[in-house]
Amino acid sequence: MRTVILTILLVLPTIAQLKQIEDLDFTDHSNGSPKISRSSYFKQDFRLGYKLKLFCEANGTPRPRIVWYHRGVEVNPDHNRTIRFSIHGDTTSSHLEIDPTSIGDKGEYECVATNSKGSRVKKFLTDYQY
Ligand SMILES: *[C@@H]1O[C@H](CO)[C@@H](O)[C@H](O)[C@H]1NC(C)=O
Repeated sequence: MRTVILTILLVLPTIAQLKQIEDLDFTDHSNGSPKISRSSYFKQDFRLGYKLKLFCEANGTPRPRIVWYHRGVEVNPDHNRTIRFSIHGDTTSSHLEIDPTSIGDKGEYECVATNSKGSRVKKFLTDYQY
């Protein structure tokens, strides 16, 4: 009986619950290691040929730097990809914007905030709609 209930609980989680699991943070940040303070939603759909925007903000001491990854590969700015950073005190914010999007832009993105004390990852999952 217990197994059956557990199985149901494992199958049921919605994206919203997955997001909460994703956001649990058991790290001790008191040593200054980066903490993701704000970000756009974990799950984000974009319309093919239109804009995709992801946002991530991290703080730490020293102030972290942010690098974006798409399916494990660092995102470099190009004709259709813009990365903007803004810094304020111990906080770094970054916007990744892809415009226009194409099919290859779907999948997992990561915002990785790093300083000398450690590193913290915020993941995003994107998919396209027509
Ligand atoms: C940028 O987008 C245009 C239009 O979709 C596309 O033709 C081109 O290949 C893209 N360039 C890069 C570097 O992805």
